[in-house]
Parts: sequence; structure tokens; C-alpha cells
Amino acid sequence: MSLVFSGIQPTGNLHLGNYLGAVRQWVALQAQHPCLFCIVDLHAITVPQDPAALRQAVLEVAAAFIASGINPDKSPIYVQSRVAAHAELAWILSCHTPLGWLNRMTQFKEKAGKAKDNAVLGLYSYPVLMAADILLYRATHVPVGEDQKQHLELARDIAGAFNRHYNSETFILPEPLIPAAAARIMSLRDGTKKMSKSDESDYSRINLKDDNDALRLKIQKAKTDPLPLPETVAALEGRPEAANLLQIYAAITGVTLAEAVAQYAGQTFSAFKKDLTEALVAHLAPIREEMARLLTDPAQLSVHLKNGQQAAENIAQNTIENVRQQIGL
Ligand code: TYM
Repeated sequence: MSLVFSGIQPTGNLHLGNYLGAVRQWVALQAQHPCLFCIVDLHAITVPQDPAALRQAVLEVAAAFIASGINPDKSPIYVQSRVAAHAELAWILSCHTPLGWLNRMTQFKEKAGKAKDNAVLGLYSYPVLMAADILLYRATHVPVGEDQKQHLELARDIAGAFNRHYNSETFILPEPLIPAAAARIMSLRDGTKKMSKSDESDYSRINLKDDNDALRLKIQKAKTDPLPLPETVAALEGRPEAANLLQIYAAITGVTLAEAVAQYAGQTFSAFKKDLTEALVAHLAPIREEMARLLTDPAQLSVHLKNGQQAAENIAQNTIENVRQQIGL
């Protein structure tokens, strides 16, 4: 039995990295596998949030999932905090996770920065909650972008440690599914930095909510280099902005990076950027419009989330009962 599980934080806008690295894979996977998709609001509160904005962001992410092609009747969509077993299992797993494993997590180091003593505990233990999300459903496959790989490895380590400790097969060791292309979409302002929700400059990312004018402007302003586009994939070495824009073009039009390179070999950025803009508009405008339509009926979105919660709870309840029993709770 396979089960695909993944999650996204409801903070601000979903961007092109979230879409190409994660959501688009999910849409493809649901044709072949049972899937469960989680809006991870408990993860979001590891950094300060405005309550009203958080509530709205949850609905927007639900709308983005459905507008991107996730069928909530087939693949439940639900909100993490509504299924209490996530938090309970996270606590239990935290009692089975050596600090040394968490000390290796690069994301904490990046997010906490130099002021580690002021960072909140939740930011540090975040990867344990993420392990709980996945292990709770005995998920077999977890489609994510490359930045989540280390967290997935930790989830496997925790699952293995728990199983060995109780001499059981309570948890399944989940396999990451990282897309071959577009696993790491970079900032439009700096091709060496990941496209991210938290970047101060909105010009660094393409949001699913951006209108066509914003898309045009952002691609027009996207950083490039002075050379014409390269003749070969190998010649992209050392040209992170060119590599990123070509990768986005390839992913959005469904060609390989090699095909995109061949198509624009020796051309100027301005000609290429024109085509890239049109491709982005053609792909993203229908998603944006459908998102806006869905958001006019928040009650219907809440019905989907409620149904999703029920489906998730049915599975989660079994696992957590089993875990409690083994531990002696
Ligand atoms: P989050 O919300 O930061 O990102 C959601 C998904 O988008 C992918 N992603 C990217 N892919 C390619 N290029 C980028 N620039 C880019 N930025 C983000 C992420 O890899 C992710 O797949 N901890 C997770 C959420 C989470 C989760 C889980 C995921 C919580 N529990 C359980 C899977 C399973 C996170 O913060 O993702």
C-alpha cells in the first residue's frame, strides 16, 4: 500500500518554487496514488504570524491547491492544527530524538541566524513535527523540493529509531520524491539564493497571485548576465541566473533543460524573456483566476477542509492509539 503525503506552510503567497517544486508533482501523483495534502499552520507559527492573515492564508492555500488541479474529493486537503494527533505524536517523537540529530539541521541554522538564544524552541524542534506529520499517516512517499531533503532524512532516522526501540514496525520509512527538474527554483534577483516567501523583495519571486502585469515586470527586471544565452547545458556553469530562467522556462513549457537551451542558443535575454513571460502568463493566469473564483466562496473551501480533516483523522487515530499502547501511555 502506498500513500503520498506532503505539506505546505500557509504563510503569505505561494510562489513558483512551491508550485514547480511541490504542488505540480502532487497533481500528477494523485492520478496513481492515494494522497493526503496538509496545510501546516503549526509549522507556520514557528515565526510570528498575524492571526487574521494566517486564517486567510489557510484558505488561500486551499484555493491554490484546488486551482492547481488537486481534486479534494479524491485527495483530502486539511489543516494540520485541526488534527490534534500531529502535536501529540511530535511530542512523543521528540522524546525519542537525540539533540545531536537536530543540531545538524541546516534550515534552523539559516533561520535562527546568529541570535540562536533568542530563537524559539518550536523553530528548533520543527523537523520533529514534520516527521510526525509524515509518520502519523505511515506515508510511503513525500513529494517535496530539494530544501526539504534533510528533514526527510531525519524523519526516516526517527522512524527507524522508534521501530528499533519498541521492536515494532509502527512507522514506515518515507521516501522523498524530489523532482528531477525544478527541485530548486532560485530568486529572480540572485540566482544563488532560493526563491523564498521570506525574501524581502517581492521582485525575487513569482507569486501564484501575481497578475499578468506583475509577471511581465518581474521577468523584465529579473537579473541576467551580459552574455548571450549559452549553446550547451554545460556552459550554464557559473551562470546561475541564466540557468534558473531556462529551468523555469523548461519546467513551465514541459521541455527538458537541454531542449530549452537548444531553442535559445546564442540568443539575447530580451528575446528569451519575452517568450518566458508569455509561457508563464499562459500557465499561471488560469490558476490565478480559478483561485480568485474559489476564494469568493470560503464556506465551500471550509467544507473541503472539514472533509479532509475527517479523512486524515481516521488514519491518524489508528496510528496514535497504537503508539500510545506501545509506549505504555
Ligand atoms: P514550505 O512551505 O517552505 O514549501 C512547500 C514546498 O515547496 C517546496 N519549495 C521549493 N521547491 C523548489 N524551489 C524552491 N525555491 C522552493 N521553495 C519551497 C518545498 O521543498 C516544499 O516541498 N517543512 C515544509 C512543510 C512541511 C512538510 C511536512 C512537507 C511540513 N510538514 C511534511 C512534507 C511533509 C516547508 O516548510 O515547506
